[in-house]
Amino acid sequence: MDVVLPEEVRERVREARRVVAFSGAGVSKESGLDTFRGAGGLWEQMRPEEMATPQAFRADPAKVWQWYAWRWKTGSGAQPNPAHRALVRLEAVFPSFTLVTQNVDGLHARAGSRNLLELHGTILRAHCNRCGRSRDMGEAIAESPEEPPVCSCGGRFRPSVVWFGETLPEEVLFRASQEASSCEVFLSVGTSSTVYPAAGLIELAHQAGACLIEVNPEPTPFSGRMDLRLAAPAGEAVPALVDAMERCR
Ligand code: APR
Repeated sequence: MDVVLPEEVRERVREARRVVAFSGAGVSKESGLDTFRGAGGLWEQMRPEEMATPQAFRADPAKVWQWYAWRWKTGSGAQPNPAHRALVRLEAVFPSFTLVTQNVDGLHARAGSRNLLELHGTILRAHCNRCGRSRDMGEAIAESPEEPPVCSCGGRFRPSVVWFGETLPEEVLFRASQEASSCEVFLSVGTSSTVYPAAGLIELAHQAGACLIEVNPEPTPFSGRMDLRLAAPAGEAVPALVDAMERCR
């Protein structure tokens, strides 16, 4: 795939100093991980309330634990794809580049992204729901695959992801909002842009007058506001887009 940037976008990319990329589950689709919404999405197979809420964990900790153990296992078996790797390259192209992800799979970090903000936490860690003690998720699953392990304080370990109805890590959201509000180019990749407050970052970048670019085979609620839209899989479109961005610097 070859990407030719429209003149105005090329100008904005050439002059940009501060750039933000914002990613969702679609960026890991070509690594074999399901998205949440759309055909074959995880939330097509079950209701999020049944699995990704504190109430669901209280009601049936074993079921929720086993589901996240399955997701941890599939994630561990997956590899970063060309989209993850291309986003790493952007760190060298712009003086300030920040990658904000909704993904908990750890593939951006495994691809080598350094300036990474994980808005929804990570499935690679678990923490006690009483004292907060943190530990490696893989070890916790190995110790107790069927039930969430009990902490020495009497609490239970749960995956360190943000569940529906929970607040995002304050410091991470604050930094992501600052970056979105002060960037000149904002790239949105593989997200349905429907879950808040994360999707609000696109709004902030738009209000700040940033040049908006979207990579998603399907339209999103923000598609109409984009300066450039690539309706293609991230694994193809992001490397080609990064090539085009490098060319015009
Ligand atoms: N490349 C790029 N985008 C893709 C690809 C692909 N290969 N395949 C699918 N997509 C797009 C879909 O069209 C969809 O718009 O990825 C998007 C995935 O959307 P969601 O499943 O809603 O995932 P996301 O936006 O990350 O969800 C946000 O919701 O369930 C919660 O906490 C969870 O972080 C998640 C949040």
